[in-house]
Order: sequence, then structure tokens, then C-alpha cells
Amino acid sequence: MTTNKIYNFGAGPACLPQEVLNQIKADIPDWYDGMSVMELSHRLPVFMELTQTIEADLRQLLEIPNDFAVLFMHGGARTQFAAVPLNLLQGAKTADYLVTGIWSSLAYDEAKKYTNAHCVASGESNQFTQIPQSEEWVFTETSPYLHYTDNETIQGVEFHHVPKCEGKWLVSDMTSNILTKPISFENYGAIYASAQKNLGIAGITVVIVRKELLGKTHAFTPSMLDYTVYEKSHSLYNTPPMFCWYVLGLMLKWTKTLGSCEDIASTCREKANLIYDVIDNSGFYTSPIYKAHRSRMNIPFCLPTEELEQLFLQKANEHGLKQLKGHKLVGGCRASIYNAMPVEGVIALRDFMKSFENTYG
Ligand SMILES: Cc1ncc(COP(=O)(O)O)c(C=O)c1O
Repeated sequence: MTTNKIYNFGAGPACLPQEVLNQIKADIPDWYDGMSVMELSHRLPVFMELTQTIEADLRQLLEIPNDFAVLFMHGGARTQFAAVPLNLLQGAKTADYLVTGIWSSLAYDEAKKYTNAHCVASGESNQFTQIPQSEEWVFTETSPYLHYTDNETIQGVEFHHVPKCEGKWLVSDMTSNILTKPISFENYGAIYASAQKNLGIAGITVVIVRKELLGKTHAFTPSMLDYTVYEKSHSLYNTPPMFCWYVLGLMLKWTKTLGSCEDIASTCREKANLIYDVIDNSGFYTSPIYKAHRSRMNIPFCLPTEELEQLFLQKANEHGLKQLKGHKLVGGCRASIYNAMPVEGVIALRDFMKSFENTYG
């Protein structure tokens, strides 16, 4: 067993801050009046107050304008792959999708069940190692929105600017990079993110949607996927995942201690550069991703052979550096460094990568 501190580089469910874990441990048996948060009625004032605080904290952190509703829904981001067309098509017969990796590709496939989904551009011919140039994007005239994935968790490709798209709303999956940079809401119709990276644990999904788009849900939409139903019921239409809400509340309070979203963005950039610098100054590690589109959250990298990759993963694991295996669809290694990964963890990985290269390179 290693005596090193454990750092978990998993892509999600991802590591939680130690402070949050400690608070959970303290609260589990008695969060309110001798009862665990998991045992309470969601109609109790104390729980309603928690939900209001959570919405207020999220609004404050992301500076969400008042003309947006904030919903807390069941299911993960994949549930939103269906909920988005059902709620946001608004009678249109087509919807535009930008395909930049596996997650946006799955969102596009799901949308095809509900509409004549149109692929604006795809990075597949480059194995999703770069975002297609915007000059090549071909929109439909009638789609009310352009769906894109702001950070492709598997490939490690991230938008570092708001995509250009005139005359339609942007709808973005920000599951793996929400709360890591400021968002300028003016071009967005909706943004969604499941929780298990920067917002807590799996089981709750945040949807931030322009209020003027509510009320036009497709008639056969299940109530449990209907944004308008969630808005009217303050996201308490049925029994909510109480524990997920509670962890989200702790995560937001903790995130506020990191500063503003601008501060967080610069920390994320610094952390990511520690690893990219090792890769770029080495003849041993390589990054498959076009430099300008590299993710600050998920850093895929390869070693010269599969055997060396296996050895790297094994030795890293023994050293306390966990879950560095790349996604099974792309292979290689991947370091996921969301907000809860402290800079010390990234430095530990950087130093390990350098020493592994010195020994085996
Ligand atoms: C960008 C992105 N979108 C969607 C998903 C799917 O999320 P969920 O498992 O919450 O449905 C993930 C999961 O990792 C993701 O990273």
C-alpha cells in the first residue's frame, strides 16, 4: 500500500473536496432535528430553504440573469439529450447539432428520435482531435437552436470561445466544465450539466433555461422531462434526490471559497498547463489534441507503446495517482482535473510523469 496521498483523476464520478467529504461525514446521521437529510420530507421548510439557497448560490457564482430559470432535474446529462429537443424545438421540424466528440455525437443521435436533426459540422474525420473550423459550419434556416458540447470529456476538446451562430439560441452541454469560467448568457437558450464532475454527485442535473422558451414543450413530453413543470414546481414536482441536492449545496458553498468564475478559470488554466508543459517538453508523452482546442479539464495523453502505458498506469496507481486510464473508446491515459483536484495533486502527477520518463524514456 502507498504511503503517498491519494489523488483521484477520474473523469466522473470525480473526486470531491476533502472539506465537503468531512462535512458529509459529520452530517450523515443528523442533518436536522436528529434526522439525516435522506430521511426528511422534501416539503419541510428546512429542505425548501436549502433548495432556495442552492439556486441563489448558483445564480451568484455564474451571474445568471433573471430572465433565466434554474431547474434541478433527475437523470443525468443523457436525459437532457432527449429533454432538449422536446422542450426547445418549439414546433420546428429540425435542430442543428455540432458534433465535436462522443458526447455531442450521442446528443445528436438522441435528437434524431424527435426531429430531423442536422449535423452542422463534425470532427469525426480528424478523430475528434479538433473542433471543425466555423467557416465550414452549415446551419439550417429553421432550427431554433444550435446544440454543442462545451467540453468533450472523453476526447479532451474544449471551446475557448462562444461558438458563432446567428439567429438561433445556443444550447450547451457543460457537464464537464460548468463553474470553471464565466458564462456570457446573452447568446444562450439553455445550458445543462449533470453533477458528478464540478457540482457534486450523480443523480441531479442543473438546467439553466431562458424563461421565454418555457411553455412550448412538445405535447407528448413526459411531465418528468418538461422544463415548464419543473419551473412551476420549483423542481419539486416529485420526490427529489435529497442527498444529491444536499451535496450540491455543499459543493456550491465550497466553490465560492475559490473566488469568482474568473479566478477559477485562471486556476484551471494554470493546473492544466502544468501537465501540458510536461507533454510538450517531452519526446515520450504525446497529446493527440490540436493545441488551441485542448481541454483544461480532461487531458488525454499517450506513451510510446501500450506496454509502457500499462506500466505507467500501474506505477501511478501504486504511487497514489488513481483512475488515469483513458476512456475505453479512445485508449491511452487521461487526467481529469476539475475544481476539486488541488494544485498539489496536479504537481504530484507532473512530478511522477517526469520521473517515469527519466526511468523508462
Ligand atoms: C460532456 C458530457 N455530457 C454528457 C455526459 C453524460 O452524463 P450522465 O452520465 O450524467 O448522463 C457526460 C458524462 O461523463 C459528459 O461528460
